[in-house]
Amino acid sequence: MRLDVVTIFPEYLEPLNVSLVGKARARGVLDVHVHDLREWTYDRHNTVDDTPYGGGPGMVMKTEPWGEALDTSLADGYEAGAHSPVLVVPTPSGRPFTQELAVELSTEPWLLFTPARYEGIDRRVIDEYATRLRVVEVSIGDYVLAGGEAAVLVITEAVARLLPGVLGNAESHRDDSFAPGAMANLLEGPVFTKPPEWRGRAIPDVLLSGHHGKIARWRRDQAFARTALNRPDLIERCEASAFDKKDREILSILGFAPEPGGRFWRRPTAVEE
Ligand code: ADE
Repeated sequence: MRLDVVTIFPEYLEPLNVSLVGKARARGVLDVHVHDLREWTYDRHNTVDDTPYGGGPGMVMKTEPWGEALDTSLADGYEAGAHSPVLVVPTPSGRPFTQELAVELSTEPWLLFTPARYEGIDRRVIDEYATRLRVVEVSIGDYVLAGGEAAVLVITEAVARLLPGVLGNAESHRDDSFAPGAMANLLEGPVFTKPPEWRGRAIPDVLLSGHHGKIARWRRDQAFARTALNRPDLIERCEASAFDKKDREILSILGFAPEPGGRFWRRPTAVEE
């Protein structure tokens, strides 16, 4: 997979040389190109922003440097034999970044990222490239970062670990929290490793039992407990058919009740009522 990133802070992307993404690069699974947007400015101050039309606070990134930077990056990639780039635009106004979108992006041959600073990029740039490329505007969460570079790192890491040959064990992402179809989209429960006792804390007996059926059931119960606590919305979104008899019992203990439609909803507590 080829990755291009156009940014005014190329050094912010240094983590792409480290750990899993760094190894994927070293192995040739990822071909990363980071470009300095200011290379496409021609004034003394290397200006990339200007005041917004219509007024208001903050600055807007200018069309010309972005247009030239994207044209050059695209030409370079096409010349190197890449094709079908997807333009990934990190913005708090984008669609939520999910595991599903990570899986989808991991099947693309080429991602071109446009992390912005200030109030964002002049809209005409996105509209211009949308006539030629698939454009995905992506938000990594309901908060506002100072710029999109951290979002590029997040998206890249989530995508890179899904590429064939990047994780040691191909099964590793089968049970990921949020993996499409995984455990009715529950969060993963707790994990343990050696030593068997630490500061007086033991390992749950069932994990030492060697009984695969019981271990699987225990893990599922733990996943329900954690999901009910941290993300009850994930349980409320599940089809009722995703739950077996034991799941329903656990859900009842955790304070969820079935609706006539079949989905499970958290029963309001006395305080909420
Ligand atoms: N840029 C600023 N905030 C962002 C967010 N939440 N997601 C993606 N890009 C951003």
